[in-house]
Amino acid sequence: MVEIKNIKSMAIRFDISNGLSPDRDSKKRMLSDMDGMYLDNIALKEMISKQDILVYEFYELGIPEEPGHIAFGTTILYPGKVGNEFFMTKGHFHSIQETAEIYYCLKGHGFIVMENPNGITEMQEMNPGVSVYVPPRYAHRSINVSKKEPLISFFAFRADAGHDYKTIETKGFRKLLVEYDGKPKLIDNPKWKL
Ligand code: NI
Repeated sequence: MVEIKNIKSMAIRFDISNGLSPDRDSKKRMLSDMDGMYLDNIALKEMISKQDILVYEFYELGIPEEPGHIAFGTTILYPGKVGNEFFMTKGHFHSIQETAEIYYCLKGHGFIVMENPNGITEMQEMNPGVSVYVPPRYAHRSINVSKKEPLISFFAFRADAGHDYKTIETKGFRKLLVEYDGKPKLIDNPKWKL
């Protein structure tokens, strides 16, 4: 039997209108935290030199990182573009790759792009009320395609899964979501390396 930490029950508020919690501090990712993540890094540097704005924020609630626990929280991804590429989260594999994740969209319009180590890409559209299942072994990233609204989602995953950001920071995703003729289009990432 697996020994797990017993913790007390808890209730945390997330405001439906902006995804934020009045009870906890969020983790914030600024444009300057996204160095090298976008195709057009020169456009990124130019934006940062003008104003280093918030790209997304999310919650880590300190749930014990053990298999019987479930980590959860919200992600708030703000609207914007770097060059013609939509604002997105860095994306990650789980350190324990055989662990899934669930997202539930509360507000906004976007996509979750997923890819597994065999090169299979999956994409699901996010609108309020849509729940997306990210299967085990898939790296996942949220992308906001709205011009004015944040993309707000609630997530839950096995608490010991861990985050492998390094693989994506080093290699990128195979596919990128860019604006083309005023519409989102999934393209091959010219910078992707094996
Ligand atoms: Ni995840």
